[in-house]
Amino acid sequence: MENKGQQKSSREHGHEVQLQGYDFTPADLKTQVFKTKVLPNPFVLSASPLTDGYHECKKALDAGWAGVILKTAFDGIPIHIPNHYMSRMGNESHANCDNVSGRSLDQVIADITKLKAEYPDRLIAGSTGGPVFGEDSFCKNGWQKNIGKLCTGGAELVELSLSCPQGGDSSEGSIAAQSVAQSCKIVRWALETPELTKKVPLLFKMTAACTSVETIIKAVQKVIEEYPEKNAGITMANSFPAVDIKQTVRPNRAYPYDAIVVGLGGAHVLPISNLSLTSLFNVQNLQISGNGGVVDNKSAADFQIIQQKVDHNEVKKYIIIDINNNIIIYRKNEIK
Ligand SMILES: Cc1cc2nc3c(=O)[nH]c(=O)nc-3n(C[C@H](O)[C@H](O)[C@H](O)COP(=O)(O)O)c2cc1C
Repeated sequence: MENKGQQKSSREHGHEVQLQGYDFTPADLKTQVFKTKVLPNPFVLSASPLTDGYHECKKALDAGWAGVILKTAFDGIPIHIPNHYMSRMGNESHANCDNVSGRSLDQVIADITKLKAEYPDRLIAGSTGGPVFGEDSFCKNGWQKNIGKLCTGGAELVELSLSCPQGGDSSEGSIAAQSVAQSCKIVRWALETPELTKKVPLLFKMTAACTSVETIIKAVQKVIEEYPEKNAGITMANSFPAVDIKQTVRPNRAYPYDAIVVGLGGAHVLPISNLSLTSLFNVQNLQISGNGGVVDNKSAADFQIIQQKVDHNEVKKYIIIDINNNIIIYRKNEIK
C-alpha cells in the first residue's frame, strides 16, 4: 500500500498534521434540499431578526450562507413587538421576545423576488403560520391563505412554525406542536393548500419542548406520506420556552428585575437539540432540518453526523479535525 496521506490540515493556520494511510480530500458540503435544489453548503439561516428584510438577508448570503428563511410574517393582523425585541444570555445564547415580523407577507414576497434574482444558487424561503383558535374551517382557511400567498409569491420553500415558545392563548391550539392531534391537523391543512405543488417544499417547525419528540414526528410523517405528490419535512427544533430575568428599565420598581418570557436559542439549547435529533434515529425517509444551538463549527459538524442517522459506517468515512477551533470535515479515502 502506497502511503500518500501526509500534508492535510488547516491552510489558514498553516499547521501540518501527519495522518498515515489515508488520502484526505475536503468533504463536499453540497446539499440537496428535497428534490428541488442543490445548495453550496447545508447552512441556512432560520427565521429571526437576522432574516427580517432584504438587507439583513443580503448580508448573510454575501457571507456565504446557503439560504435564508425570512422571518415569520402574516397579513393584516396587529403585531405587537415588545420593547425588548430580543434578549441575550451571554455571548452565545439569545432569545426571542418578538414572536414574528412586523412586516407583511407582501413585503416579504418583494424581498424574496429580489433575493432570488440576485442569488439564484441559494435557497430563498418564507415562513408563516395561521390561527390555532376558533372554528377549524376558519383556521384551515387562514393557514392555507398564508401558505398559498408565499407559494404564488415565489418562495422556494415555506417553513411553518407549529410552536410559539413564548406561549399563546392557553387554548389547545397554543400547544400545537406538543399535541399529536393538533400537529397532524395543521400538517394536513397545510398539505392541502391548493397552490402548493411539489416545487415548493414545506418544513414543519416542531418543538423540542415535549417528552417524546419521536411520537409526534412519526405521526406527522404518516400524514406527510399521505401526500406523495407534495414535498414536506420537518425542522427539529425551535427555540425553547424559558424565562430570562433581567435588570428592569422601568422606573420605581421595588424589585429591580423583570422576568421576561422568551424563546431561548443558542448554546443553551444545543444539548436539547442534539437529543431531539438523536431521538429521531428511528425515523426513516423524512427530510429533517436541524435547528437550535449551532453556534460554532463543532456543533454544526455534530448536527451533520447526527443527521446522517448516526450510521457508523458512514461516519467512519469522515474525519473531523479541530485546529484552533477551526473544524474541517474531511472525507477519508482509503488508499488501495
Ligand atoms: C430574536 C429571535 C427571533 C426569532 N424569530 C423567529 C420567527 O419569527 N419565526 C420562527 O420560526 N423562529 C424564530 N426564531 C427562532 C429561530 O429561528 C431558531 O429556531 C432558534 O433561535 C433556535 O436556533 P438558534 O439556536 O440557532 O438561534 C427566533 C429566534 C430569536 C432569537
